Amino acid sequence: MPGIVIVGAQWGDEGKGKITDLLAEHGDAVVRFQGGNNAGHTIVREGVEWKLHLIPSGILYPGKRCVIGNGVVIDPRVLIEELDALRARRVDVSGLRISSNAHLIMPYHLLLDSAGEAKLGSLQIGTTRRGIGPCYADKAARLGIRVQDLLDEKILKKKIMAAMEPKRLSLRPFEKDPKLDLHTMTEEYLTYGHRLEQHIADTSRLMWELLDRGEKVIFEGAQGAMLDIDHGTYPFVTSSNPLAGAACVGAGVGPKNIDEIWGISKAYTTRVGAGPFPSELHEEMGEAIRQRGGEFGTTTGRPRRTGWLDLVALRYAARLNTMTALVVTKLDVLSGFDRIQVCTSYRGAEGAQFDDFPYHQTVLHHTTPELTELRGWKEDLGECRTLSDLPEAAREYLLFISEQVGAPVTLIGVGPGREQVIWTDAGRETLIGRNGSAPA
Ligand code: GDP
Ligand code: IMO
Ligand code: MG
Repeated sequence: MPGIVIVGAQWGDEGKGKITDLLAEHGDAVVRFQGGNNAGHTIVREGVEWKLHLIPSGILYPGKRCVIGNGVVIDPRVLIEELDALRARRVDVSGLRISSNAHLIMPYHLLLDSAGEAKLGSLQIGTTRRGIGPCYADKAARLGIRVQDLLDEKILKKKIMAAMEPKRLSLRPFEKDPKLDLHTMTEEYLTYGHRLEQHIADTSRLMWELLDRGEKVIFEGAQGAMLDIDHGTYPFVTSSNPLAGAACVGAGVGPKNIDEIWGISKAYTTRVGAGPFPSELHEEMGEAIRQRGGEFGTTTGRPRRTGWLDLVALRYAARLNTMTALVVTKLDVLSGFDRIQVCTSYRGAEGAQFDDFPYHQTVLHHTTPELTELRGWKEDLGECRTLSDLPEAAREYLLFISEQVGAPVTLIGVGPGREQVIWTDAGRETLIGRNGSAPA
Protein backbone atom coordinates (compact mmCIF):
# COMPACT_ATOMS: atom_id res chain seq x y z
CA MET A 1 0.00 0.00 0.00
CA PRO A 2 2.67 2.53 -0.79
CA GLY A 3 1.33 6.05 -0.89
CA ILE A 4 3.72 8.88 -1.69
CA VAL A 5 2.66 12.48 -1.21
CA ILE A 6 4.30 15.32 -3.14
CA VAL A 7 3.72 18.77 -1.68
CA GLY A 8 5.00 22.28 -2.22
CA ALA A 9 7.12 23.40 0.74
CA GLN A 10 7.03 27.13 -0.04
CA TRP A 11 4.53 29.49 -1.71
CA GLY A 12 3.87 27.27 -4.75
CA ASP A 13 5.63 26.82 -8.10
CA GLU A 14 8.43 24.77 -6.55
CA GLY A 15 8.54 22.36 -9.51
CA LYS A 16 5.98 19.82 -8.23
CA GLY A 17 4.80 19.04 -11.77
CA LYS A 18 8.26 18.06 -12.96
CA ILE A 19 8.91 15.88 -9.91
CA THR A 20 5.47 14.21 -10.10
CA ASP A 21 6.00 13.45 -13.78
CA LEU A 22 9.42 11.98 -12.98
CA LEU A 23 8.22 9.78 -10.11
CA ALA A 24 5.02 8.79 -11.92
CA GLU A 25 7.02 6.61 -14.27
CA HIS A 26 7.32 4.10 -11.42
CA GLY A 27 3.96 4.83 -9.82
CA ASP A 28 0.70 3.11 -10.73
CA ALA A 29 -1.57 6.11 -10.27
CA VAL A 30 -1.40 9.86 -9.67
CA VAL A 31 -4.11 11.70 -7.77
CA ARG A 32 -4.65 15.45 -7.28
CA PHE A 33 -6.25 16.10 -3.89
CA GLN A 34 -6.83 19.87 -3.52
CA GLY A 35 -6.80 23.20 -5.34
CA GLY A 36 -8.05 23.73 -8.84
CA ASN A 37 -6.90 25.49 -11.96
CA ASN A 38 -5.16 28.13 -9.86
CA ALA A 39 -2.32 25.61 -10.15
CA GLY A 40 0.05 25.63 -13.09
CA HIS A 41 2.41 22.67 -13.36
CA THR A 42 5.04 22.74 -16.10
CA ILE A 43 6.72 19.63 -17.43
CA VAL A 44 9.53 19.68 -19.99
CA ARG A 45 10.19 16.44 -21.87
CA GLU A 46 12.73 16.28 -24.67
CA GLY A 47 12.55 20.05 -25.02
CA VAL A 48 8.75 20.04 -25.36
CA GLU A 49 6.78 21.99 -22.75
CA TRP A 50 3.49 20.80 -21.19
CA LYS A 51 1.41 23.00 -18.90
CA LEU A 52 -1.21 21.34 -16.73
CA HIS A 53 -3.71 23.08 -14.47
CA LEU A 54 -6.19 20.43 -13.38
CA ILE A 55 -5.12 17.12 -14.83
CA PRO A 56 -2.56 15.23 -12.72
CA SER A 57 1.03 15.37 -13.93
CA GLY A 58 1.07 11.60 -14.62
CA ILE A 59 -1.13 11.97 -17.70
CA LEU A 60 1.82 11.95 -20.11
CA TYR A 61 2.31 8.20 -19.54
CA PRO A 62 -0.07 6.33 -21.86
CA GLY A 63 -3.01 4.85 -19.97
CA LYS A 64 -1.66 5.83 -16.52
CA ARG A 65 -4.43 5.99 -13.94
CA CYS A 66 -4.84 9.71 -13.16
CA VAL A 67 -7.41 10.87 -10.67
CA ILE A 68 -8.94 14.23 -9.80
CA GLY A 69 -9.92 13.68 -6.19
CA ASN A 70 -12.93 14.92 -4.25
CA GLY A 71 -10.87 17.70 -2.63
CA VAL A 72 -10.23 19.46 -5.96
CA VAL A 73 -12.48 22.24 -7.26
CA ILE A 74 -13.13 21.80 -10.97
CA ASP A 75 -13.95 24.37 -13.60
CA PRO A 76 -15.44 21.97 -16.15
CA ARG A 77 -14.87 24.33 -19.07
CA VAL A 78 -11.16 24.48 -18.25
CA LEU A 79 -10.98 20.73 -17.70
CA ILE A 80 -12.56 20.01 -21.09
CA GLU A 81 -10.23 22.49 -22.78
CA GLU A 82 -7.25 20.81 -21.12
CA LEU A 83 -8.46 17.36 -22.19
CA ASP A 84 -9.01 18.54 -25.77
CA ALA A 85 -5.57 20.18 -25.89
CA LEU A 86 -3.93 16.96 -24.68
CA ARG A 87 -5.88 14.83 -27.15
CA ALA A 88 -4.84 17.20 -29.94
CA ARG A 89 -1.23 16.45 -28.96
CA ARG A 90 -1.99 12.72 -29.11
CA VAL A 91 -1.95 12.10 -25.37
CA ASP A 92 -4.05 9.14 -24.26
CA VAL A 93 -6.38 10.55 -21.59
CA SER A 94 -8.50 7.42 -21.17
CA GLY A 95 -6.99 6.75 -17.73
CA LEU A 96 -8.45 9.94 -16.20
CA ARG A 97 -11.03 9.53 -13.45
CA ILE A 98 -12.90 12.42 -11.80
CA SER A 99 -14.44 12.18 -8.35
CA SER A 100 -18.22 12.42 -8.39
CA ASN A 101 -17.92 14.34 -5.10
CA ALA A 102 -15.58 17.08 -6.37
CA HIS A 103 -17.10 20.56 -6.39
CA LEU A 104 -17.61 22.62 -9.53
CA ILE A 105 -16.50 26.16 -10.17
CA MET A 106 -19.51 28.05 -11.54
CA PRO A 107 -19.62 31.29 -13.56
CA TYR A 108 -20.72 33.23 -10.44
CA HIS A 109 -17.62 32.02 -8.58
CA LEU A 110 -15.40 33.64 -11.19
CA LEU A 111 -17.35 36.90 -10.97
CA LEU A 112 -17.30 36.85 -7.16
CA ASP A 113 -13.54 36.22 -7.09
CA SER A 114 -12.84 39.27 -9.26
CA ALA A 115 -15.46 41.42 -7.50
CA GLY A 116 -14.00 40.46 -4.10
CA GLU A 117 -10.52 41.45 -5.16
CA ALA A 118 -11.75 44.74 -6.64
CA LYS A 119 -13.55 45.54 -3.38
CA LEU A 120 -10.43 44.89 -1.33
CA GLY A 121 -8.52 47.45 -3.40
CA SER A 122 -5.02 47.87 -2.02
CA LEU A 123 -5.66 45.03 0.46
CA GLN A 124 -6.28 42.49 -2.28
CA ILE A 125 -4.85 38.99 -2.05
CA GLY A 126 -3.75 38.80 -5.66
CA THR A 127 -5.77 35.64 -6.35
CA THR A 128 -5.56 33.91 -9.68
CA ARG A 129 -9.22 34.97 -10.20
CA ARG A 130 -10.19 31.43 -11.14
CA GLY A 131 -13.09 31.32 -8.67
CA ILE A 132 -11.27 29.06 -6.21
CA GLY A 133 -12.13 30.88 -2.96
CA PRO A 134 -15.85 31.39 -3.70
CA CYS A 135 -16.18 27.75 -4.78
CA TYR A 136 -14.65 26.41 -1.54
CA ALA A 137 -16.83 28.91 0.37
CA ASP A 138 -19.96 27.44 -1.22
CA LYS A 139 -18.70 23.94 -0.44
CA ALA A 140 -18.41 24.86 3.25
CA ALA A 141 -21.77 26.66 3.15
CA ARG A 142 -23.29 23.49 1.66
CA LEU A 143 -24.35 25.39 -1.42
CA GLY A 144 -21.86 23.74 -3.76
CA ILE A 145 -22.62 22.02 -7.03
CA ARG A 146 -20.82 18.69 -7.37
CA VAL A 147 -19.63 16.71 -10.37
CA GLN A 148 -22.41 14.13 -9.82
CA ASP A 149 -25.03 16.89 -10.14
CA LEU A 150 -24.09 17.24 -13.80
CA LEU A 151 -25.80 13.93 -14.41
CA ASP A 152 -29.22 15.00 -13.11
CA GLU A 153 -30.85 17.95 -14.84
CA LYS A 154 -33.55 18.58 -12.23
CA ILE A 155 -31.18 18.55 -9.28
CA LEU A 156 -28.62 20.64 -11.14
CA LYS A 157 -31.14 23.41 -11.87
CA LYS A 158 -32.47 23.41 -8.30
CA LYS A 159 -29.02 23.58 -6.79
CA ILE A 160 -27.85 26.37 -9.08
CA MET A 161 -30.93 28.37 -8.19
CA ALA A 162 -30.33 27.87 -4.46
CA ALA A 163 -26.66 28.75 -4.77
CA MET A 164 -27.24 31.95 -6.76
CA GLU A 165 -30.02 33.30 -4.56
CA PRO A 166 -27.92 34.37 -1.54
CA LYS A 167 -25.42 36.05 -3.85
CA ARG A 168 -27.95 38.30 -5.48
CA LEU A 169 -26.65 41.43 -3.78
CA SER A 170 -22.99 40.88 -4.59
CA LEU A 171 -23.87 39.87 -8.12
CA ARG A 172 -26.14 42.87 -8.75
CA PRO A 173 -23.57 44.62 -10.99
CA PHE A 174 -23.58 41.48 -13.16
CA GLU A 175 -27.32 40.78 -13.15
CA LYS A 176 -27.60 41.34 -16.90
CA ASP A 177 -24.70 38.99 -17.63
CA PRO A 178 -26.14 36.19 -19.83
CA LYS A 179 -23.76 33.74 -18.13
CA LEU A 180 -25.84 34.14 -14.97
CA ASP A 181 -29.11 33.15 -16.59
CA LEU A 182 -30.34 30.01 -14.81
CA HIS A 183 -31.50 28.24 -17.94
CA THR A 184 -28.37 29.03 -19.97
CA MET A 185 -26.11 27.98 -17.11
CA THR A 186 -27.95 24.70 -16.55
CA GLU A 187 -27.79 23.87 -20.26
CA GLU A 188 -24.09 24.73 -20.41
CA TYR A 189 -23.25 22.55 -17.41
CA LEU A 190 -25.35 19.64 -18.69
CA THR A 191 -23.28 19.72 -21.86
CA TYR A 192 -20.12 19.55 -19.73
CA GLY A 193 -21.65 16.57 -17.93
CA HIS A 194 -22.11 14.72 -21.22
CA ARG A 195 -18.51 15.41 -22.16
CA LEU A 196 -17.11 14.28 -18.80
CA GLU A 197 -19.45 11.39 -17.99
CA GLN A 198 -17.07 8.66 -19.13
CA HIS A 199 -14.47 9.88 -16.62
CA ILE A 200 -16.71 10.30 -13.55
CA ALA A 201 -16.20 7.64 -10.87
CA ASP A 202 -16.15 6.74 -7.18
CA THR A 203 -12.48 7.64 -6.93
CA SER A 204 -12.18 7.05 -3.18
CA ARG A 205 -13.08 3.42 -3.78
CA LEU A 206 -10.72 3.27 -6.74
CA MET A 207 -7.88 4.58 -4.55
CA TRP A 208 -8.68 1.99 -1.91
CA GLU A 209 -8.61 -0.82 -4.47
CA LEU A 210 -5.27 0.31 -5.89
CA LEU A 211 -3.66 0.71 -2.47
CA ASP A 212 -5.13 -2.58 -1.26
CA ARG A 213 -3.49 -4.35 -4.21
CA GLY A 214 -0.16 -2.83 -3.16
CA GLU A 215 0.01 -0.48 -6.12
CA LYS A 216 1.98 2.71 -5.82
CA VAL A 217 -0.12 5.88 -5.65
CA ILE A 218 1.36 9.36 -5.94
CA PHE A 219 -0.66 12.13 -4.32
CA GLU A 220 0.11 15.34 -6.20
CA GLY A 221 -0.28 18.56 -4.23
CA ALA A 222 -0.88 21.97 -5.73
CA GLN A 223 0.23 25.32 -4.21
CA GLY A 224 2.46 25.09 -1.13
CA ALA A 225 2.53 24.98 2.67
CA MET A 226 2.76 28.75 3.10
CA LEU A 227 -0.44 29.17 1.08
CA ASP A 228 -2.33 26.78 3.38
CA ILE A 229 -5.61 28.28 4.60
CA ASP A 230 -5.01 27.15 8.20
CA HIS A 231 -1.24 27.35 8.60
CA GLY A 232 -0.09 29.75 5.87
CA THR A 233 0.19 33.51 5.78
CA TYR A 234 -3.57 34.07 6.17
CA PRO A 235 -5.42 35.88 4.60
CA PHE A 236 -2.81 35.87 1.82
CA VAL A 237 -3.35 32.19 1.13
CA THR A 238 -5.39 29.94 -1.09
CA SER A 239 -8.67 28.42 0.08
CA SER A 240 -7.56 24.81 0.55
CA ASN A 241 -4.98 22.81 2.53
CA PRO A 242 -1.94 22.08 0.37
CA LEU A 243 -0.45 19.92 3.14
CA ALA A 244 0.21 16.18 3.28
CA GLY A 245 -2.59 15.76 5.84
CA ALA A 246 -5.10 16.93 3.26
CA ALA A 247 -3.99 14.27 0.78
CA CYS A 248 -6.04 11.71 2.70
CA VAL A 249 -9.23 13.73 2.92
CA GLY A 250 -8.93 15.08 -0.60
CA ALA A 251 -8.44 11.66 -2.16
CA GLY A 252 -10.68 9.70 0.19
CA VAL A 253 -8.09 7.43 1.85
CA GLY A 254 -6.91 7.02 5.44
CA PRO A 255 -3.62 8.29 6.96
CA LYS A 256 -2.20 4.77 7.17
CA ASN A 257 -2.07 4.74 3.38
CA ILE A 258 0.69 7.33 3.34
CA ASP A 259 4.26 6.02 3.49
CA GLU A 260 6.42 8.88 2.27
CA ILE A 261 6.03 12.65 2.13
CA TRP A 262 8.21 14.53 -0.29
CA GLY A 263 8.41 18.31 0.14
CA ILE A 264 9.53 20.26 -2.90
CA SER A 265 11.47 23.50 -2.47
CA LYS A 266 13.34 25.73 -4.84
CA ALA A 267 16.95 26.57 -3.95
CA TYR A 268 15.60 30.10 -3.35
CA THR A 269 12.10 31.45 -2.71
CA THR A 270 9.35 32.87 -4.90
CA ARG A 271 5.83 34.04 -4.29
CA VAL A 272 3.05 35.27 -6.64
CA GLY A 273 0.40 37.56 -5.23
CA ALA A 274 0.39 39.72 -2.12
CA GLY A 275 1.37 38.92 1.48
CA PRO A 276 4.39 38.71 3.76
CA PHE A 277 7.65 37.39 2.31
CA PRO A 278 10.43 38.05 4.83
CA SER A 279 13.41 37.07 2.63
CA GLU A 280 12.17 38.97 -0.44
CA LEU A 281 14.80 40.67 -2.59
CA HIS A 282 14.13 43.86 -4.47
CA GLU A 283 16.06 45.68 -7.20
CA GLU A 284 18.97 44.00 -9.03
CA MET A 285 19.35 40.79 -7.05
CA GLY A 286 15.62 40.01 -7.08
CA GLU A 287 15.46 40.81 -10.79
CA ALA A 288 18.54 38.67 -11.52
CA ILE A 289 16.91 35.61 -9.90
CA ARG A 290 13.61 36.34 -11.70
CA GLN A 291 15.30 36.49 -15.08
CA ARG A 292 17.66 33.53 -14.56
CA GLY A 293 14.88 31.38 -13.10
CA GLY A 294 12.24 32.46 -15.63
CA GLU A 295 10.04 33.37 -12.68
CA PHE A 296 6.79 34.28 -14.37
CA GLY A 297 3.54 32.52 -13.41
CA THR A 298 2.36 29.49 -15.40
CA THR A 299 -1.29 30.34 -14.78
CA THR A 300 -1.43 34.13 -14.88
CA GLY A 301 1.92 35.13 -16.40
CA ARG A 302 2.53 37.50 -13.46
CA PRO A 303 6.17 38.15 -12.50
CA ARG A 304 6.94 36.15 -9.35
CA ARG A 305 8.44 37.94 -6.36
CA THR A 306 11.85 36.46 -5.56
CA GLY A 307 14.09 36.12 -2.51
CA TRP A 308 16.72 34.03 -0.76
CA LEU A 309 15.84 30.61 0.58
CA ASP A 310 13.80 31.05 3.77
CA LEU A 311 14.80 28.26 6.15
CA VAL A 312 12.44 29.44 8.91
CA ALA A 313 9.51 28.89 6.55
CA LEU A 314 10.99 25.68 5.16
CA ARG A 315 11.49 24.17 8.64
CA TYR A 316 7.88 25.11 9.40
CA ALA A 317 6.73 23.36 6.19
CA ALA A 318 8.81 20.28 7.08
CA ARG A 319 7.09 20.11 10.46
CA LEU A 320 3.56 20.71 9.15
CA ASN A 321 4.01 17.93 6.62
CA THR A 322 6.25 15.53 8.59
CA MET A 323 8.38 15.59 5.49
CA THR A 324 10.35 12.40 4.95
CA ALA A 325 12.26 13.75 1.96
CA LEU A 326 13.27 17.13 0.62
CA VAL A 327 13.65 17.84 -3.09
CA VAL A 328 15.64 20.95 -3.99
CA THR A 329 14.81 22.26 -7.46
CA LYS A 330 16.36 25.00 -9.59
CA LEU A 331 19.81 24.78 -8.00
CA ASP A 332 21.19 25.66 -11.47
CA VAL A 333 19.58 29.10 -11.23
CA LEU A 334 21.99 30.11 -8.45
CA SER A 335 25.12 29.54 -10.58
CA GLY A 336 27.14 32.69 -11.07
CA PHE A 337 26.56 34.44 -7.74
CA ASP A 338 29.76 35.11 -5.73
CA ARG A 339 27.97 34.68 -2.43
CA ILE A 340 24.61 33.11 -1.68
CA GLN A 341 22.53 34.09 1.31
CA VAL A 342 19.96 32.08 3.21
CA CYS A 343 17.52 33.28 5.82
CA THR A 344 18.08 31.25 9.01
CA SER A 345 15.94 33.27 11.44
CA TYR A 346 13.75 36.37 11.56
CA ARG A 347 14.35 39.52 13.62
CA GLY A 348 11.15 41.06 15.00
CA ALA A 349 10.49 44.82 15.04
CA GLU A 350 11.34 44.86 18.75
CA GLY A 351 14.58 42.98 18.35
CA ALA A 352 13.45 39.46 19.23
CA GLN A 353 14.93 36.59 17.24
CA PHE A 354 12.53 34.02 15.73
CA ASP A 355 13.93 30.62 14.80
CA ASP A 356 10.39 29.29 14.46
CA PHE A 357 7.67 30.72 12.29
CA PRO A 358 5.94 33.46 14.38
CA TYR A 359 2.33 32.65 15.17
CA HIS A 360 1.20 36.26 15.14
CA GLN A 361 0.70 37.89 11.79
CA THR A 362 1.62 41.38 12.96
CA VAL A 363 5.00 40.03 14.08
CA LEU A 364 5.52 38.29 10.76
CA HIS A 365 4.67 41.43 8.78
CA HIS A 366 7.40 43.39 10.55
CA THR A 367 10.23 40.87 10.60
CA THR A 368 13.47 41.25 8.74
CA PRO A 369 15.52 38.24 7.67
CA GLU A 370 18.70 37.22 9.49
CA LEU A 371 20.93 36.04 6.68
CA THR A 372 23.79 33.56 6.64
CA GLU A 373 26.24 33.90 3.78
CA LEU A 374 27.53 30.84 1.94
CA ARG A 375 30.00 30.39 -0.90
CA GLY A 376 28.63 30.67 -4.43
CA TRP A 377 29.80 28.83 -7.53
CA LYS A 378 30.27 29.78 -11.17
CA GLU A 379 29.84 26.49 -13.01
CA ASP A 380 26.78 25.67 -15.11
CA LEU A 381 24.98 22.73 -13.45
CA GLY A 382 22.74 21.67 -16.35
CA GLU A 383 24.79 18.57 -17.17
CA CYS A 384 25.44 17.39 -13.59
CA ARG A 385 23.91 13.97 -12.89
CA THR A 386 25.67 12.90 -9.69
CA LEU A 387 26.50 14.74 -6.49
CA SER A 388 30.19 14.54 -7.33
CA ASP A 389 29.55 16.43 -10.60
CA LEU A 390 28.48 19.44 -8.53
CA PRO A 391 30.94 22.13 -7.45
CA GLU A 392 31.97 21.78 -3.80
CA ALA A 393 30.19 25.02 -2.87
CA ALA A 394 26.90 23.69 -4.29
CA ARG A 395 27.28 20.50 -2.24
CA GLU A 396 27.95 22.61 0.87
CA TYR A 397 24.81 24.59 0.15
CA LEU A 398 22.67 21.43 -0.06
CA LEU A 399 24.19 19.99 3.11
CA PHE A 400 23.46 23.24 4.96
CA ILE A 401 19.82 23.16 3.84
CA SER A 402 19.34 19.50 4.69
CA GLU A 403 20.80 19.94 8.18
CA GLN A 404 18.72 23.05 8.86
CA VAL A 405 15.50 21.43 7.68
CA GLY A 406 16.14 18.03 9.24
CA ALA A 407 15.10 16.04 6.19
CA PRO A 408 17.30 14.18 3.71
CA VAL A 409 17.65 15.64 0.22
CA THR A 410 16.55 12.89 -2.17
CA LEU A 411 16.54 14.67 -5.50
CA ILE A 412 18.09 17.85 -6.87
CA GLY A 413 16.88 19.76 -9.92
CA VAL A 414 19.53 21.21 -12.22
CA GLY A 415 17.35 22.31 -15.13
CA PRO A 416 13.74 22.17 -16.36
CA GLY A 417 14.25 18.96 -18.39
CA ARG A 418 13.02 15.65 -17.04
CA GLU A 419 16.53 14.21 -17.11
CA GLN A 420 18.08 17.23 -15.38
CA VAL A 421 18.07 15.74 -11.89
CA ILE A 422 20.53 14.27 -9.43
CA TRP A 423 19.45 11.34 -7.25
CA THR A 424 21.22 11.19 -3.90
CA ASP A 425 21.89 8.00 -1.92
CA ALA A 426 19.01 8.98 0.37
CA GLY A 427 16.79 9.19 -2.74
CA ARG A 428 17.77 5.69 -3.83
CA GLU A 429 16.65 4.43 -0.43
CA THR A 430 13.10 5.71 -0.85
CA LEU A 431 10.17 3.58 -2.02
CA ILE A 432 10.21 5.13 -5.43
CA GLY A 433 14.00 5.37 -5.79
CA ARG A 434 14.47 1.67 -5.02
CA ASN A 435 11.94 0.80 -7.66
CA GLY A 436 13.98 1.94 -10.57
CA SER A 437 13.40 5.70 -10.74
CA ALA A 438 16.89 6.34 -9.44
CA PRO A 439 19.71 5.35 -11.75
CA ALA A 440 21.80 2.52 -10.29
P1 GDP B 1 4.78 23.74 -9.88
O1 GDP B 1 3.60 24.61 -9.86
O2 GDP B 1 5.30 23.43 -8.51
O3 GDP B 1 4.61 22.50 -10.71
O4 GDP B 1 5.94 24.58 -10.58
P2 GDP B 1 5.79 25.45 -11.94
O5 GDP B 1 5.73 24.51 -13.08
O6 GDP B 1 4.71 26.46 -11.80
O7 GDP B 1 7.14 26.28 -11.90
C1 GDP B 1 8.38 25.66 -11.90
C2 GDP B 1 9.15 26.10 -13.16
O8 GDP B 1 10.51 25.75 -13.00
C3 GDP B 1 8.70 25.41 -14.43
O9 GDP B 1 8.86 26.31 -15.50
C4 GDP B 1 9.65 24.24 -14.57
O10 GDP B 1 9.84 23.84 -15.92
C5 GDP B 1 10.91 24.82 -14.01
N1 GDP B 1 11.79 23.88 -13.32
C6 GDP B 1 11.48 22.82 -12.54
N2 GDP B 1 12.60 22.28 -12.00
C7 GDP B 1 13.64 23.02 -12.45
C8 GDP B 1 15.05 22.98 -12.21
O11 GDP B 1 15.59 22.17 -11.46
N3 GDP B 1 15.80 23.95 -12.84
C9 GDP B 1 15.25 24.89 -13.66
N4 GDP B 1 16.05 25.80 -14.23
N5 GDP B 1 13.92 24.94 -13.90
C10 GDP B 1 13.13 24.04 -13.29
P1 IMO C 1 0.98 25.81 -8.10
O1 IMO C 1 0.23 24.53 -7.92
C1 IMO C 1 1.73 29.88 -6.72
C2 IMO C 1 -1.64 32.05 -4.93
C3 IMO C 1 -2.18 33.24 -5.69
C4 IMO C 1 -2.63 34.12 -4.52
C5 IMO C 1 -3.18 33.09 -3.54
C6 IMO C 1 -4.68 32.91 -3.59
O2 IMO C 1 1.28 26.13 -9.51
O3 IMO C 1 2.16 25.86 -7.20
P2 IMO C 1 -6.29 31.67 -5.32
O4 IMO C 1 -6.53 31.91 -6.77
O5 IMO C 1 -5.81 30.31 -4.98
O6 IMO C 1 -7.45 32.09 -4.46
O7 IMO C 1 -5.10 32.72 -4.93
O8 IMO C 1 -2.54 31.86 -3.85
N1 IMO C 1 -1.59 30.79 -5.69
C7 IMO C 1 -0.46 30.24 -6.18
N2 IMO C 1 0.82 30.69 -6.17
N3 IMO C 1 1.47 28.68 -7.25
C8 IMO C 1 0.20 28.19 -7.25
O9 IMO C 1 -0.10 26.94 -7.66
C9 IMO C 1 -0.83 29.01 -6.74
N4 IMO C 1 -2.17 28.86 -6.59
C10 IMO C 1 -2.61 29.95 -5.95
O10 IMO C 1 -1.19 33.87 -6.45
O11 IMO C 1 -1.53 34.73 -3.92
MG1 MG D 1 2.92 26.41 -10.66
